[in-house]
Amino acid sequence: MEQAIESVLFSEEQLSQITGRLAEAINAAYAGRTVVVVGVLKGSFIFLADLFRRLTMPCELDFMAASSYGNQTTSTGFLNITKDLTADIAGKDVLLVEDIVDTGNTLSYIKEYLLTKGPESVRICTLFDKPSRRKKSITVEYVGAEIEDLFIVGYGLDFAEHYRNLPYVGILKPEIYQS
Ligand code: PRP
Repeated sequence: MEQAIESVLFSEEQLSQITGRLAEAINAAYAGRTVVVVGVLKGSFIFLADLFRRLTMPCELDFMAASSYGNQTTSTGFLNITKDLTADIAGKDVLLVEDIVDTGNTLSYIKEYLLTKGPESVRICTLFDKPSRRKKSITVEYVGAEIEDLFIVGYGLDFAEHYRNLPYVGILKPEIYQS
């Protein structure tokens, strides 16, 4: 598996520092409130697990998943919700947690959807942001690190469902995704 990695972009230690900084900001912002933390599957699950255990306010946990309808989706931004919330978020503060924001399609669709459920607020926390790829304008309140348009894997992020279990984030060798 490691032979497919060109270089390490974020080590385990760097990821832990980033997560710690994000948790500090979130803890300060939500002090005294209860938050429904919603992980967007699958990529966020490792980051979410590390972030979640550093949160100090009362928290509920839920998950969502959405997938695109092929090429049409890229232009319309319309997604299929494959896993919906189980929590009732009406009147509650929601924190959406993602591994990466790329075009912004996924989060803008999910945020719009959640807003129809009458929450008090919906904010977004992402480990990585690729602003150069953005197609949908979306406010992201908590960003771990901005990155270039690189193909990264590990710490939950995949290529063709592999490499999620690498404990660090690495740049995938082009011959892997070009073949
Ligand atoms: C990734 C990532 C985000 C989305 C971001 O998910 O986890 O959900 O893409 O891209 P966007 O901003 O262009 O919408 P992916 O579809 O790869 O699924 P996964 O999380 O199950 O790996």
